[in-house]
Amino acid sequence: MPATCVIGLQWGDEAKGKLVDILTEQHDIVVRYQGGANAGHTVVSGGQTWKLSLIPSGILRPDVTCVVTGGVVLNPCSVLSEIDSLVSRGVRVERNLLLSDRAHIVFPWHVAEDHLLDSSVSGGEAIGTTGRGIGPCYRDKVGRALAIRLGDLYRSDFLERLRHVIQNKQQSLSTTSTAVSQFDADAIHREYADYAERLRPHVTDTTAYLLDAVESGKRLLFEGAQGSLLDIDHGTFPFVTSSNSSGVGVSSGSGVPGRWMNRVIGVLKAYSTRVGGGPMPTEQDNAKGEYLRQRGNEYGTVTRRPRRCGWFDAVAARYTSRLSGVDELSVMLLDVLSGLDQVLICSAYELEGRRLDHFPSHIDDLRAVVPVYESWPGWNEDLSGVQHYQDLPQAAQNYLARIETLLGRPVSVVSVGPDRNQTIQRDNAAASPSLSFNALPTPQHHATHV
Ligand code: GDP
Ligand code: IMO
Ligand code: MG
Repeated sequence: MPATCVIGLQWGDEAKGKLVDILTEQHDIVVRYQGGANAGHTVVSGGQTWKLSLIPSGILRPDVTCVVTGGVVLNPCSVLSEIDSLVSRGVRVERNLLLSDRAHIVFPWHVAEDHLLDSSVSGGEAIGTTGRGIGPCYRDKVGRALAIRLGDLYRSDFLERLRHVIQNKQQSLSTTSTAVSQFDADAIHREYADYAERLRPHVTDTTAYLLDAVESGKRLLFEGAQGSLLDIDHGTFPFVTSSNSSGVGVSSGSGVPGRWMNRVIGVLKAYSTRVGGGPMPTEQDNAKGEYLRQRGNEYGTVTRRPRRCGWFDAVAARYTSRLSGVDELSVMLLDVLSGLDQVLICSAYELEGRRLDHFPSHIDDLRAVVPVYESWPGWNEDLSGVQHYQDLPQAAQNYLARIETLLGRPVSVVSVGPDRNQTIQRDNAAASPSLSFNALPTPQHHATHV
């Protein structure tokens, strides 16, 4: 049975959680396979809001199994408080949540290192991480010598291992900063042994579980965290996260081979946002950006930082939809754009006066690009109650059609509000005709430096 992947195509927060929750109905298993507690995925249903971080957004549907694989870096304290919070609101997790024994554990020194190291990464600008210890934990995973995985917490040499790691960490941290707290191996051992006991019923070999599941016809849904532009290898390095957050990470993070993935949905906001440092060519650090921030409530789910806002960047999104192997697009938060006279789409970059063919691989080039904009007529109608694609204002339909053309993929889902019900699903037959390139209205004018 085929598997579906939901992948963010921008810098995260594209409303992947909302889409995963909706698609969960058609699947048996929902899988988080990379990232960690840096993710903040929101589901709104029946007047209730759910913020999920490490636990897959499928958890609200009782008949579905949610799996956190070995590609995820796991903070046991965070996962337990998420479990407690879900249980206190009536969500059952005891039989339908599995955690990989291969998942690497985030310890307090990872969080300390995250805060210490996140400065002056490139050109004096900090990455602006979420401070959850994600990068340092992945670094130890790749370095191997100082890594501890969930499965290690149940072994008799856990304390010995912890002592070895703490001795090393204490040394390296004290050379970086004098303000480093001391890590007490015995106390941390007690704390983490307690976490391990509480998590025990959920811990298993998820690679084996998922391979059995997919081979026996179960329908899998992979929930990407972050967005493709934050991918460690293919994103806007070094202003990225530390995992493969584009579509290329699904197999390595989960252990399920790519041959099973037959539907890849790319999730996009109808405009751009970014939280943290790094270049963002279409950023609007002005009244337009503020308009988007206020209407879209663009404040980080994890850190509440104001998100940087700007126009839709079709150059970046075309790159990431190709990189992530996207078949179809979900355009989210379209309602936020109502009330603008003109909506702009960046359809090309210029660098030193020349049109670029590709999304730049070096951060200095991305910093220097000049976005070339198309301007499209806006709309004033409130979209939040629209249920059918054909009921969207013509200007909004034209805008979506232009995105389809520029990205070369059909829009199959349009979201017009946070709630599950505020979602327009188009069948493929309806989506494809709008990909006929000639029938599209032409943009009004081109502008740069907007
Ligand atoms: P994720 O990290 O990709 O799951 O996205 P986040 O949950 O961090 O951010 C998306 C935000 O947009 C959340 O607050 C959602 O409730 C909200 N949201 C989702 N879809 C829509 C939509 O169509 N319109 C509006 N206005 N808000 C939406
Ligand atoms: P979801 O899954 C948006 C950003 C951080 C920072 C950079 C590195 O909710 O879309 P990290 O803590 O990962 O080392 O930070 O990546 N970032 C996100 N931005 N959404 C996310 O997740 C993010 N996870 C990390 O702001 O710029
Ligand atoms: Mg988020």
